[in-house]
Amino acid sequence: MKLLVTGGAGFIGGNFIHDTLEHYPEDTIICVDKLTYAGNMETLAPVMDNENFIFEKADIADAPAIRKIFEKHRPDCVINFAAESHVDRSIDNPGVFLTTNILGTQVLLDASREYDVKRYHQVSTDEVYGDLPLDRPDLLFTEETPIHTSSPYSASKAGADLLCQAYARTFKMPITISRCSNCYGPYHFPEKLIPLMLINAMQDKSLPVYGKGENVRDWLFVIDHCRAINLIVRKGTPGEVYNIGGHNERTNIDVVKTILHQLGKPESLISYVTDRPGHDMRYGIDPTKINNELGWLPETKFEDGLSLTIEWYKNNKTWWQNVLDGEYQKYYEKMYTQR
Ligand code: NAD
Ligand code: TYD
Repeated sequence: MKLLVTGGAGFIGGNFIHDTLEHYPEDTIICVDKLTYAGNMETLAPVMDNENFIFEKADIADAPAIRKIFEKHRPDCVINFAAESHVDRSIDNPGVFLTTNILGTQVLLDASREYDVKRYHQVSTDEVYGDLPLDRPDLLFTEETPIHTSSPYSASKAGADLLCQAYARTFKMPITISRCSNCYGPYHFPEKLIPLMLINAMQDKSLPVYGKGENVRDWLFVIDHCRAINLIVRKGTPGEVYNIGGHNERTNIDVVKTILHQLGKPESLISYVTDRPGHDMRYGIDPTKINNELGWLPETKFEDGLSLTIEWYKNNKTWWQNVLDGEYQKYYEKMYTQR
């Protein structure tokens, strides 16, 4: 199978490419990435010499460029990871989220239709469901939970999901959507909670926890997410949405303290800062459908996945030091200084 994977120089797309080339050696992957601040060719360095891997630099919202790539490679399957993915940046500058996440999806859907792609898969997020209250641990997001977004990021992802469902119905396209909870693991850009806290702690810098740190996220090791996507793409039913998550809910402060504990650093590094506007309280996924229909279960326990992640960041300092040297400094100052 020829897979066209967008956003493969990012966190989840990069892990997906590594894992898929290893486990499906008969497949070819064409990676399309614009290389925004979040895209990193260092993440793809281990596969650049693989004869089943091709890289194309392009913006998914650039219709002529995308059409050319489809004409050249004629993919069987498209998996769209490419997105502006950070909630805080979407609060600061929503426009690019609409361009990439909605218009980019439309461009990919049009090209997939024109070139008769056998499966289009949209990588979405549990954030399209909004949030759950802290005092109702019995409530979880199912695939039937209404879309109810809180941030420009989640609204743009929800817009893309609705567009996919509209194309599936109107043009009878074979489309699947997955909605995953928060992921963590190697190659994660340090604007997100776990890599930011890890890297700050390793450098003895303060750890900026929003509000009281009581918000809850449902954490999944990135490779478990990638394996779920491979199952959906190969065995899932067209037209269906699949939630992905592993019943691993933790408060942010619990996650931050676990990181400090594993690194042997003091809790005095924690600094409580002004909360994120519109901050979602809790995410919690019900993964019954993907478990029953496709037999997917997460394989990595949180403590093990976190140890693996910490080891990776300890052993790959050049990867993250190069990231910190770039545009990141300005971002960090704007977002955190005098917060
Ligand atoms: P990321 O920000 O690490 O990577 C995004 C990648 O997309 C980068 O390589 C970037 O260069 C590329 N990109 C951005 N705009 C582009 C454009 N216009 N054209 C082509 N490429 C472009 O993101 P991630 O964390 O790997 O997330 C991947 C996908 O998974 C996103 O769709 C996100 O919404 C979804 N998701 C993420 C999580 C999570 O915890 N990180 C959870 C659920 C769903
Ligand atoms: P994040 O990694 O941005 O993912 P999302 O908001 O998409 O779930 O944030 C995870 C949680 O961590 C969220 O509740 C916000 C919180 N957070 C902090 O407390 N401090 C930080 O510096 C960051 C980046 C996030």
